[in-house]
Amino acid sequence: MKYSVKKAANKDKQKIVSMIENVGDSFVPKVRDRVDPGGYFTYLRGKNRKYLEEKYGNKIPSPKGAKMFTIKNKDELLGFASYYKHFEPFDGAYFICIMVTPELQSNGLGKTLVQKVVDDAKKENITKMSVTTWSTNENSRRLFESNGFKLNKTVLNERAPGVHGLYLERYFSS
Ligand SMILES: CC(C)(COP(=O)(O)OP(=O)(O)OC[C@H]1O[C@@H](n2cnc3c(N)ncnc32)[C@H](O)[C@@H]1OP(=O)(O)O)[C@@H](O)C(=O)NCCC(=O)NCCS
Repeated sequence: MKYSVKKAANKDKQKIVSMIENVGDSFVPKVRDRVDPGGYFTYLRGKNRKYLEEKYGNKIPSPKGAKMFTIKNKDELLGFASYYKHFEPFDGAYFICIMVTPELQSNGLGKTLVQKVVDDAKKENITKMSVTTWSTNENSRRLFESNGFKLNKTVLNERAPGVHGLYLERYFSS
């Protein structure tokens, strides 16, 4: 399959939001119900701004503070991945999100995106990156583990009853 990986552009925003809306229902909890730690999704979708302001004051991470990459076939968005160079609750960089269009999953696109993020982080002299996922998301766990991330912590029932939060991290050597 032909594709290119690039820094996300403003013109990609609507397609990215649509992908978040579509794929986000498979997340636990669903993205549409989330006010997640960074408020990233909620911020992007323009919701719960007041809650975020109350909770995070002027420290609300915004999409502007994130680096995002898309994987595209010409103008068709196949997936995206994003990370924060610094993210307060975590000590270091934080891999915010990765999504690949459902019909094209398991074709190596996710791996390509993770490698892009890792390469970019290394260029930024980042030495440690964290990512969180959940216990029922085997594809995601496998994706990160096969790219050198190691499980650091499991928080039981964090995402939902019986669905545990998985905290993974990877250290980069210089
Ligand atoms: C998680 C996700 C991004 C993975 O992207 P992907 O393009 O399907 O992943 P890849 O094809 O690059 O596969 C990555 C690894 O997982 C393996 N893998 C992926 N899907 C698999 C499957 N269904 N069965 C077996 N192995 C699988 C691949 O073999 C590869 O391992 P390897 O590097 O050892 O060969 C994708 O499934 C997705 O968008 N899921 C929904 C959104 C989501 O859950 N995001 C993560 C939130 S933390």
